[in-house]
Amino acid sequence: MMIANIELPSQTDRQLPTPDWNRVRTDFPILSRTVHGKPLVYLDSTATSQKPQVVLGAMDDYYRTTNANIHRGVYELSEVATDRYEKARARIAHFINAKSSREIIYTRNTTEAINLVAYSWARANLCDGDAVLLSKMEHHSNLVPWHILAAERGIELRFLDVDPHGLLVLDDLDAMLRGVKLVSLTHMSNVLGTINPVEEIIARAHEVGALVLLDAAQSVPHLPVDVRALDIDFLAFSGHKMCGPTGIGILYGKRKLLEEMPPFLGGGDMIGVVTLEGFTTNELPWKFEAGTPAIAEAIGLGAAVDYISALGMDNVHAHEQELTAYALDRMRDLPGVTVYGPDAEHKGGVVAFDIEGVHPHDVATILDGEGIAIRAGHHCCQPLMQHLNVPALCRASFYVYTRKEDVDALVEGVKKVQGIFK
Ligand code: ALA
Repeated sequence: MMIANIELPSQTDRQLPTPDWNRVRTDFPILSRTVHGKPLVYLDSTATSQKPQVVLGAMDDYYRTTNANIHRGVYELSEVATDRYEKARARIAHFINAKSSREIIYTRNTTEAINLVAYSWARANLCDGDAVLLSKMEHHSNLVPWHILAAERGIELRFLDVDPHGLLVLDDLDAMLRGVKLVSLTHMSNVLGTINPVEEIIARAHEVGALVLLDAAQSVPHLPVDVRALDIDFLAFSGHKMCGPTGIGILYGKRKLLEEMPPFLGGGDMIGVVTLEGFTTNELPWKFEAGTPAIAEAIGLGAAVDYISALGMDNVHAHEQELTAYALDRMRDLPGVTVYGPDAEHKGGVVAFDIEGVHPHDVATILDGEGIAIRAGHHCCQPLMQHLNVPALCRASFYVYTRKEDVDALVEGVKKVQGIFK
């Protein structure tokens, strides 16, 4: 357990050589399968990423050789399982440049991490008349917890606007920040792909004494994120979008904030002493980890962090920007196709679009027949759909295993859809 005491050195910038992206693809066993007799073209990494063999192997090895509950046994298996679980935490801390692995809380996913802040920090610190600043491009995960809180107490929710290019409107940020105690914002939109200028927003929020929670579900898997350089207060992300398994996510919080917060869920492992009269809490990070956690998944996420770190997060981002620029060029050339969101320089590997006269669900169904997986629907962003005045959108999204050929297949698939609906 003492592994969480490790104080981590600050990251140094290290530019890794560009990987051979075709070779990277061979690390993902699922990419060699066919769908409806066609090679799989997986373009839904924003929903969930595929898993490389090293992640599958790490989880398989844990179950085959060391499966035991952690923090509870004094026998070999439990100690090895505990060690792997905690070492994964230390690697995740290093990946986002946290000061200490005490600042890394395992949750189920981004949604649970945001809810942890809403239930613990916000209920202890916000009262009638306080404001929380959100935006119109938030995922439901970063809206509903605040709606629940607002209904419970008189909290005011404010929303940054989104301009026609899919960028946040920040002209009136100072006015929007007046009376705000928390800014809770997506780092990168899961629909438009917009990468928000969080450095500026965090600095200005701090000037008025507000804290900042970043929904980093789409940024941490795809770009370098340094919590110390950005001075982020809380950061939430999910393992399954970054080559790791489902069922494991992370809440990063500055140690002082986490120390002061009351526990979220009660149960085993988060306690110091329990009597019939009450309980004391465990130290960080376990104070927030009630019950048997997702042990294999944490180990899998540690392997995923090693995997994408070895590719180099700058390289991952550059690869996706190149694909996005290519996809935007090709898609914008197609008559009857509308593409949403900013240019490649302001976004990650997400291309949202619709086809005139065809419902997005029909588009996705026809593409599926071609072996192409995209997401269609409201993307858990109904307020953004209302803002864009669309019922739903199609969305293609990229990751380390995506190639230009996948974009070409998408373009051919879109032409086929248009041919069917002519
Ligand atoms: N948040 C995930 C998506 O955008 C599920 O598809």
